[in-house]
Amino acid sequence: MVAPDAASAPASRSQRVLKVAVKRQADPAAPPRWERFEVPVEPGANLISVLQAIASRPTTTDGTSTTPIAYDSGCLEEVCGSCTMLVNGKVRQACSCLVDQFIDAGEAITIEPMSKFPVVRDLCVDRARLFAGLQRVKAWVPLDGTYHLGPGPKESPDDQEVRYALSTCMSCGCCLEACPQYNVEPDSAAWDHEFVGAAVISQARLFNMHGTGKVLKADRLEALSGRGGVNDCGNAQNCVQVCPKEIPLTESIAAAGRQSTVHAVKKFFSGR
Ligand code: SF4
Ligand code: SF4
Ligand code: FES
Repeated sequence: MVAPDAASAPASRSQRVLKVAVKRQADPAAPPRWERFEVPVEPGANLISVLQAIASRPTTTDGTSTTPIAYDSGCLEEVCGSCTMLVNGKVRQACSCLVDQFIDAGEAITIEPMSKFPVVRDLCVDRARLFAGLQRVKAWVPLDGTYHLGPGPKESPDDQEVRYALSTCMSCGCCLEACPQYNVEPDSAAWDHEFVGAAVISQARLFNMHGTGKVLKADRLEALSGRGGVNDCGNAQNCVQVCPKEIPLTESIAAAGRQSTVHAVKKFFSGR
């Protein structure tokens, strides 16, 4: 006997049937379309398990057979940032979206890919521009790992507290999706001139505060002072409201703005 699929089995007493509408796109050039599903979900289910249930029997509400929905996920505990999507129009991680808490019984749920990044397929988007932004501000600690370096520089507890919060960024893209200054730009040749966004500014601040990482501080501030840098921020503060890690992004933007101004003044007087 073949066990019934998760999506085709009749709902048990503890299950509820969730109405789901998913915005799909076969490839980057294809036109988007909506598909609707009815999925029995267990108490405590998250949106990833809803997408898995659809994949086990990809049939729409009107009985049309379709393909499983493509989506990204990794950690399933809101750490990797890969499952970010729009759920009922709001940007968030699918893995931490618990259906029972998120939506009342009988209501429908809509799932769409983020709008500020090019769609690869269905709910998968290409966040390469975000990572290019991190490269632009050299968001790393330069280290020569070929010999023993001894203990690293000491860090004050106050700096540690600030840096820890900034270090929890998972490059999920929520802050960029919500930012009115950050717009979709599929042409990678233009990325060097486009706004880098709050996540990248905050990571520049994180590495500028690091005892060894600050050796690249001038390079980072040079990148942030130019076109697409911190001055492009319109201070709408949407970013800080949607960050799932509650990173103090507006504080980072203000700190980076002050540092960039000092950097520009020094450059003006030194001629370098
Ligand atoms: S404060 Fe700046 S980075 Fe944040 S949402 Fe507004 S414009 Fe974007
Ligand atoms: S700053 Fe927050 S919202 Fe932006 S990418 Fe990092 S974790 Fe995501
Ligand atoms: S799967 Fe990693 S954040 Fe959702």
